Amino acid sequence: MAQILDGLKVSKVIKQEIKQDVEKIKAAGKRVPHLSAILVGNNGASKAYVNSKIKDCAEVGFQSSLHKFPSTASEAEILEKINELNNDPEVDGFIVQLPLPKQMDQEKIIMAIESRKDVDGFHPENFGRMALEMDTFLPATPFGILTLLEHYQIETKGKHCVIIGRSRIVGRPMSILMGRKDFPGNSTVTLTHSYTSHIEEFTKNADIVITALGDPYFLKGDMIKEGAVIVDVGITRVDADNERGYILAGDVDFDSCAEKASWITPVPGGVGPMTRAMLMKNTLLAYKHTIYKD
Ligand code: GUN
Repeated sequence: MAQILDGLKVSKVIKQEIKQDVEKIKAAGKRVPHLSAILVGNNGASKAYVNSKIKDCAEVGFQSSLHKFPSTASEAEILEKINELNNDPEVDGFIVQLPLPKQMDQEKIIMAIESRKDVDGFHPENFGRMALEMDTFLPATPFGILTLLEHYQIETKGKHCVIIGRSRIVGRPMSILMGRKDFPGNSTVTLTHSYTSHIEEFTKNADIVITALGDPYFLKGDMIKEGAVIVDVGITRVDADNERGYILAGDVDFDSCAEKASWITPVPGGVGPMTRAMLMKNTLLAYKHTIYKD
């Protein structure tokens, strides 16, 4: 029976450390870190994510600000707000919540973000720095997974890590990070995606499976090997007969996988809270100029 990679517990430790740092900053009479968010449109999940980020800021003692735009907003309006935040010395980092409405060029928007304030790590400069193993803002979900693996001292060196999904936010950066010369890292990485045939042939041979697919309960116990480490990034809303009208479902069929795995992340309480904590961490790093020194 698998042991739990308890993201909720580890995220609380990280947030507590950040909070203590903020207390010191305050005690020194200095301005506290400030995270800003741009939210465009009415996507329910996006609104919920942004609200959680604002809540997390309050919890660790950061200042936060939210800039909301209707789904009909023009790309120029968003670019103008980005320019304003880029030049605001009292904003340390900001995010543009994705996805954006179709009329907007996502690349152009992300490119407009000052890389020193890109606490999502989505700007090509930061993505490139990551690929070159330079100091950078790591995207929050991959950063959270690395921190979780590190916390539990999960051996990754020489292991076969299979990643499901090649999104720019999770799968693709994760594939680079697990192959880097560091801990966690030094894995042999297979990046699988929608055109991978017979995916179970890969997952059955994996020491570590990281799944970021968005397909509820996709990974079953008979698709993994005995003793594998299973990291579930999926959080899909599935209709349910409860007050909210939905539950959050992972990509992993937890019960059948937990019987065979050595370690497994639950949903909720696994990768999700780690992602949230790492955005706070990146904001603190931006405030302290840890990544970009000047
Ligand atoms: N949409 C889904 N995940 C994320 C994230 O981590 N950051 C932003 N900006 N948008 C997202």
